[in-house]
Amino acid sequence: MTPNQTAESQNCDENCSTCSSGYPQDAPKSAPKGLPPKAKIDVKHVILVLSGKGGVGKSTVSVNLAFALASHGKNVGLLDLDFHGPSIPKMLGIEDQRPAVLAHAIEPVHVTGNLAVMSMAFLLPDTSSPVIWRGPMKMGAIQQFLAEVNWGSLDYLVVDLPPGTGDEALTIAQLAPNVKGAVVVTTPQDVAVLDAVKAVKFIEKLELPVIGIIENMSGMICPHCKETIDLFSTGGGKKAAEDLGVPFLGAIPLDPEMVKAGDEGRPYILRHVDSPTWKAVNAVMENLVQQVES
Ligand SMILES: Nc1ncnc2c1ncn2[C@@H]1O[C@H](COP(=O)(O)OP(=O)(O)OP(=O)(O)O)[C@@H](O)[C@H]1O
Ligand SMILES: [Mg+2]
Ligand SMILES: [Zn+2]
Repeated sequence: MTPNQTAESQNCDENCSTCSSGYPQDAPKSAPKGLPPKAKIDVKHVILVLSGKGGVGKSTVSVNLAFALASHGKNVGLLDLDFHGPSIPKMLGIEDQRPAVLAHAIEPVHVTGNLAVMSMAFLLPDTSSPVIWRGPMKMGAIQQFLAEVNWGSLDYLVVDLPPGTGDEALTIAQLAPNVKGAVVVTTPQDVAVLDAVKAVKFIEKLELPVIGIIENMSGMICPHCKETIDLFSTGGGKKAAEDLGVPFLGAIPLDPEMVKAGDEGRPYILRHVDSPTWKAVNAVMENLVQQVES
């Protein structure tokens, strides 16, 4: 158990500034009284990406959705809020870059002309040594990421969150303006879908709209013939969406090229624009835009 977790298990009062939650343990995870003011950031749509379970592909989906939106001419920011395991810079091959820190602003790392990225990984001297983050520290960092980063004028800010139902989602929901809701990433298997249901309930507790469920690793693209193989049963995410009465945004197959792209730090889209996987990502993006903008 980390010191962080130990602190979390203690009871604390409303003004607690030392535990990792920063909130009373038994308080509902909805907006407490005396909300901090919304950060001043010029963004039309803030989209949270979360899941009930780790490793289902949130960061991969966040990266690819951000690219899909940017390739459709939107101004996009991609914000990595996984403080304990920031993976987006590595996936994009920009982990060695450092944002320029100006007098009153931090310049995000620009991946393309209309896609900028910010991650705690850029600000830590060494990503291999763990940092113990307490709730108020996280809140301060999130506030800075919103208000002090030179995002410019954004159409979309895609926010990649750590797995589970943590405080980062609550904090960003409170601090960011125009949070249009959250998408839930799941894999097709039953256990993962149960976790997706938990995530949907969590979003509802935060009083945010559920934009929809995305079923990732749904079927597999054969590396040889590029046909789809029904590896695990598919359709769990779709069924969960129907049962919960929330939109289903689409399915993205398990594509070995996607793993390679993530490991090698080169965006999948740059090499595979016409692949079935990229078409699936685009369809998900279009459904998301329709949910958010109509
Ligand atoms: N559609 C896909 N096809 C192939 N591999 C994928 C796909 N989606 C994700 N992956 C791979 O699965 C692994 C986990 O993905 P990722 O890091 O995006 O998950 P995550 O939900 O963000 O994990 P964490 O909970 O640790 O933040 C990575 O190696 C990634 O390349
Ligand atoms: Mg991740
Ligand atoms: Zn084949």
